[in-house]
Amino acid sequence: MPIPRSVRTAVFPVAGLGTRFLPATKASPKEMLPVVDKPLIQYAVEEAYAAGVRHMVFVTGRSKRAIEDHFDTAYELESELLAAGKQALLDVVRAVAPDDMDCSYVRQPRSLGLGHAVLCAAHIVGEQPFAVLLADDLMVGPPGGQPVLAQMVEAFESLGRSVLAVQEVPLDQVRRYGIVAGPAAGDQLIKIERIVEKPAPEAAPSRMGVAGRYILTPRIFDEIRNQPAGAGGEIQLTDAIARLMTKERVYAYQYSGKRYDCGSKEGFLEATVELALQHPQMGAAFRTYLKSLAL
Ligand code: UTP
Repeated sequence: MPIPRSVRTAVFPVAGLGTRFLPATKASPKEMLPVVDKPLIQYAVEEAYAAGVRHMVFVTGRSKRAIEDHFDTAYELESELLAAGKQALLDVVRAVAPDDMDCSYVRQPRSLGLGHAVLCAAHIVGEQPFAVLLADDLMVGPPGGQPVLAQMVEAFESLGRSVLAVQEVPLDQVRRYGIVAGPAAGDQLIKIERIVEKPAPEAAPSRMGVAGRYILTPRIFDEIRNQPAGAGGEIQLTDAIARLMTKERVYAYQYSGKRYDCGSKEGFLEATVELALQHPQMGAAFRTYLKSLAL
């Protein structure tokens, strides 16, 4: 049976330990760190919703209850805001989880890698294509253009094959990424022939690094299931994608827009400053403040 070409489900692996952000992530999830006024996970969920996804599947671990609470109804808070006539704030709170959005939660009992986290969602996703969003990569579409996942969904709808978001990265940073290589296959598209996880600069087949957005066909689940643990004893998603490529085509999509690596302190601070500057209410005042600093 051919698989559908629409993407209605997204998986958010949020079970990592977030060690780069300790001690902030000792008892609360990295994905709840706010950039200006919204937690990272909400940016990712909004990006998925804007791409037409209506079922959000969170793969959680210990200390992640705040994420479930964030997307649940905050009954007491809502009644207080209603009683106080604070309609604008009430709208902000209610907009976190629109009525036509469903959320599911599944636990990853141990942090055994991104591939393993995605597999934990297999019984909920079923036999349909799905998106994977890593919320610590905060993606911003080009000014006036579509958000990144919506661009990828459009590519998937015409290809019917897995699509990974990629961007060119500096050579001295290739060892932080999965790196792909292959011939151009159309506007912003590459037909992937090789994918290598975190190569040394001299071994990298290109400078095209995978960002935290994927659209995958359900066949990936079999590839993860049949796979031995890879680098660092973890079950890597990249290894499973490499095996999937031997069975069906996989494409890389050079997205338009900007990525902030909010899993690192530098990227998180960059996102905070740039999004604060763009903020409709506080952007102008913050710009004046930054200019006043004797840097
Ligand atoms: P990272 O490599 O950023 O790991 O995972 P991490 O544990 O979150 O952070 P550091 O490196 O220790 O600071 C990439 C994504 O995969 C998820 C993470 O939550 C993050 O979104 N992940 C990773 C899981 O859900 N489970 C895992 O076993 C590993």
